[in-house]
Amino acid sequence: MDLQRIKNKFQSLFGEGGALYTAPGRINLIGEHTDYNGGFVLPGAIDKAMYCMIKPNGTTDTVKAYALDLEEMDEFQLDDVPIKQWAKYIFGVCLEMIKRGAKIQGFDVVFAGDVPLGAGMSSSAALESCFGFALNDMYNLGFDRFELAKIGQATEHNYVGVKCGIMDQFASCFGKEGSLIRLDCRSLEYEYVPFDPKGYRLVLINTCVEHELASSAYNKRRESCENAASYIRKYHPEVEFLRDATLDMLKEVANEVSAEDYIRAEFVIEEIQRLLDACQALKEGDYETVGKKMYETHIGLSRKYEVSCPELDFLNDVARQCGVTGSRVMGGGFGGCTINLVKDELHDGFIKRATESYEQKFKIKPKVYDVIIKDGARKL
Ligand code: GLA
Repeated sequence: MDLQRIKNKFQSLFGEGGALYTAPGRINLIGEHTDYNGGFVLPGAIDKAMYCMIKPNGTTDTVKAYALDLEEMDEFQLDDVPIKQWAKYIFGVCLEMIKRGAKIQGFDVVFAGDVPLGAGMSSSAALESCFGFALNDMYNLGFDRFELAKIGQATEHNYVGVKCGIMDQFASCFGKEGSLIRLDCRSLEYEYVPFDPKGYRLVLINTCVEHELASSAYNKRRESCENAASYIRKYHPEVEFLRDATLDMLKEVANEVSAEDYIRAEFVIEEIQRLLDACQALKEGDYETVGKKMYETHIGLSRKYEVSCPELDFLNDVARQCGVTGSRVMGGGFGGCTINLVKDELHDGFIKRATESYEQKFKIKPKVYDVIIKDGARKL
């Protein structure tokens, strides 16, 4: 990222001063759509991030924000929801902080980033964490990283309309170079899992498609899970989330829940177990098993959770044909990237075949990113 560009723009718009902050996007090795079910996830922060340069502007509540990548300026007040979509993220973070007792005054900011949008790499969480971290530091608000992650998540819920889980914001706030984070999304207990798969590489292939209505479909998945959990709870009061349920418990309510809710819940219960199995395999350095679990996740996401799309399924098939160890759709779905665990010696051949055949079939050039696991939100 060319930080000089941000600095120059900041100076030309707002003059001297300002501090620079950054927060990254994330990958997730396995454990998809488990976070809002109180389950486990295994994300890591990456070397693609959002950056902002910011300073107080002396007003009580006027925000002047410049989105460098879009070359768009917006000015809004902290008591009125802005019109521009990107400004809602900034506004939401401010308001969620104010709700929690923070005193936030007007500020000037320029921001930019290199997390691809709509690629399932959590550009929006990176933006929320970047602003959360920056405002917290600049105004000395005293929020810890847990609270910053929750502020980002609440911004999605209340100002963007996506009822997301905590994974993305957590990874962006807590990321650590070279490590994945095994996070219990109910208790928020977490453990860093060093990730250095010798002989393998982790690579993302971006379909460069983003299917419409992804956010309403996402919220619908969440509702299905909550419905299924509520039926199970009637017989097993200890079941707070699907995370607490077993497949047998789900079977008991098969005649009560809708077929759709049933199959969604089945995926989630299986996915939580897959993640635990993959973590065990990781500990033993058994990447072949990790990869097998990734393929199983893809099948589940595609056929049971139905958040894949022809483009993602195609890339998954190519990975399988090329002998790639593990491959699956990553993140919320409906487009974005596949994440692939591939042996060093197969890497180049796989990338060549996947990109060429994808382009031939869909007439879209996919993008490829080698994953590098980096630190979370910080001041630069
Ligand atoms: C999106 C959401 C996350 C998580 C994933 C799916 O990235 O923001 O909270 O639910 O989808 O695992």
